[in-house]
Amino acid sequence: MSQTNPLWENEIAKRRTFAIISHPDAGKTTMTEKLLYYGGAIREAGVVKGRKNSKHATSDWMEIEKKRGISVTSSAMDFEYKGHHINILDTPGHQDFSEDTYRTLTAADAAVMIIDVAKGVEAQTIKLFKVCRMRGIPIFTFVNKLDRHGKDPFELLEEIERVLGIRSYPMNWPIGMGNYFSGVFDRKKSRVELYQTDTQHEEISFFPVEGAEDPLIGERVGQELWQQLQDEISLLDVAGDEFDMELINKGELTPVFFGSAINNFGVQTFLDNFLQMAPPPSPKKSNLGMIDPYANFFSGFIFKIQANMNPAHRDRIAFLRICSGKFERGMSVKHVRLGKDIKLAQPVQFMAQDREIVDESYAGDVIGLFDPGIFQIGDTLSVGQSFEYEEMPHFSPEFFSKVMVKDAMKHKQFQKGIMQLTEEGTVQLFRTYPMEELIIGVVGVLQFEVLEYRLKAEYGVDIMLTRMPYQIARWLEGEKAALDALKNKTVTDRYGRPVMLFESEYQLRVAMEKYSSIKFHESSLGL
Ligand code: G4P
Repeated sequence: MSQTNPLWENEIAKRRTFAIISHPDAGKTTMTEKLLYYGGAIREAGVVKGRKNSKHATSDWMEIEKKRGISVTSSAMDFEYKGHHINILDTPGHQDFSEDTYRTLTAADAAVMIIDVAKGVEAQTIKLFKVCRMRGIPIFTFVNKLDRHGKDPFELLEEIERVLGIRSYPMNWPIGMGNYFSGVFDRKKSRVELYQTDTQHEEISFFPVEGAEDPLIGERVGQELWQQLQDEISLLDVAGDEFDMELINKGELTPVFFGSAINNFGVQTFLDNFLQMAPPPSPKKSNLGMIDPYANFFSGFIFKIQANMNPAHRDRIAFLRICSGKFERGMSVKHVRLGKDIKLAQPVQFMAQDREIVDESYAGDVIGLFDPGIFQIGDTLSVGQSFEYEEMPHFSPEFFSKVMVKDAMKHKQFQKGIMQLTEEGTVQLFRTYPMEELIIGVVGVLQFEVLEYRLKAEYGVDIMLTRMPYQIARWLEGEKAALDALKNKTVTDRYGRPVMLFESEYQLRVAMEKYSSIKFHESSLGL
């Protein structure tokens, strides 16, 4: 199974597939626009979806989206830049935060973490970071909005280490901040990038220096800022972590860049460095061992299903991450779970604004497949092979509701709809014991609305949701007898695995102390 195809090597080696993780308003949309702009994928900044209430280029598919003026699910964008083929996986961030956001991270080979210099490490960043951490992918940090006054950079690095548990290596260092922001000092290349506010500039203004002590810096940015820079760089050199590519690859050390996305400052430098350090597609775990991306056959897994992108056709799109080999339009692939061969006739890729049909793609890419209802999250497709990629993990929901059908006569449609939407990954379903009541868990409250809307629109079923006070779910692992003894206190997920729900972190801690022989997992990863 490990035979590789040298013809595809270059194509696959030049792929970089990553997701941006951040808290709302840190600058993810702005950063994405600038990156697409460098790749020539868009002609002007300001067209990426997600811009609040403005240009909803790709996101007006669902009525709910229109109603709320937000995008419910994420997609992928790709572009070419300096010999690389870059795939950015979009991670929804605002109220539309959902399990999809987590699942998208399972399809990424690296993550870019954007932090607002004034706000530091925020709640949503922490959650997304944890998923990247579990997967051990490299994480690159961009500290944004240096044109505004914010936290002291040392304080920020300390916060990143304390809150996220990852060490950091500043690749460059800010010279001043806010009104005094003058540029960054590149530690590796020993050069200064002067701050310019021209948002569309093509030329970056660098000048080489002999280290931070070079008087040239003082001449350009003023004596005071130069002195401060020298003090800070010498402190960093003595007390900071060393650059270590191995630790970066394992996600234990994050290279940090400072800049101002809105002013296009530091973005290109970030991109150039990122491309040098970020990994190409890496081997992925399957039930038959690791699958090499350069292997001589096509394979991939579904990580997201997006419904009703086109309300007129009620179609669904299943997003597939290609993990090995080459994809060609019209190719027949094995749908491993169903044991059936299917033809992939009209796959699409997503640019900033349009869908376009793809003729060929390679390991690392993401394609959208029209789904007549045959795909589930985690499904493996492959040519000529019968293995399955690791099961897609579930992550702890944060909101829970009991769900009941209003009209008992519609029980059958209700069961069917809820099972299908669970398989699609819209919501998580838990059953109580011994009553077998149904509890829905979601990562973002909007998913309750999506569930209600879709059950009504697609299955003709009205439901009643009763909010429950839980905030946390933990998958339990332990001896069967110990788990059986807790049956009355647990619910089961859709695979029958025991899960315990908690109203607070405090309750969780108490339970962990009380049942110390049992492991409490934040996600079902690896269970
Ligand atoms: P998000 O996708 O992470 O939610 O953030 P987004 O890019 O939409 O940016 C959030 C706000 O922060 C936007 O302002 C954006 O213009 C601003 N912003 C992004 N990067 C920078 C930066 O480097 N410096 C400064 N000063 N601001 C930045 P907004 O007023 O909320 O929206 P808009 O009207 O500008 O679109």
